Amino acid sequence: MKETNECVIAIPGADLAEKVVDIGNCSGEDTDKFGKFRLTAKEARHVKAPLIGQCIANIECKVVDSRMVSQYNLFILGAVKAWSNSDRKEQRTMHHHGDGTFKIDGRTIDLRERMVKWRELVD
Ligand SMILES: Cc1cc2nc3c(=O)[nH]c(=O)nc-3n(C[C@H](O)[C@H](O)[C@H](O)COP(=O)(O)O)c2cc1C
Repeated sequence: MKETNECVIAIPGADLAEKVVDIGNCSGEDTDKFGKFRLTAKEARHVKAPLIGQCIANIECKVVDSRMVSQYNLFILGAVKAWSNSDRKEQRTMHHHGDGTFKIDGRTIDLRERMVKWRELVD
């Protein structure tokens, strides 16, 4: 991101959990992650970084503020394009507890009628 000022945030479904951990336990410096983990690189529209075909969503982002990078390694990103992949049977996301254990998304509850202040998100 320091070099290109852009990235893709790829959101995997729970079916990819083991693969996600394995991908996070090696480095692109010595491993071709797309090849080794049989991921499909797809062309993004606004950034050079690839989308991951097997993910349920991909968000193309540009760095909009890098003032906190040197002190906190914190990049502020702006999303320029979002893709969702409804073809994937597994649509549940997973959430890392920080210690190698994960929570998997549960049931959906519909509270749209209570979203009185945010109609544009609902309609
Ligand atoms: C479950 C899991 C969660 C991780 N979370 C983070 C994180 O929040 N921030 C981070 O910098 N690295 C995190 N890592 C480590 C990176 O994934 C790891 O440094 C990365 O795979 C290195 O690859 P690269 O050298 O190709 O960038 C995590 C790894 C695992 C397995």
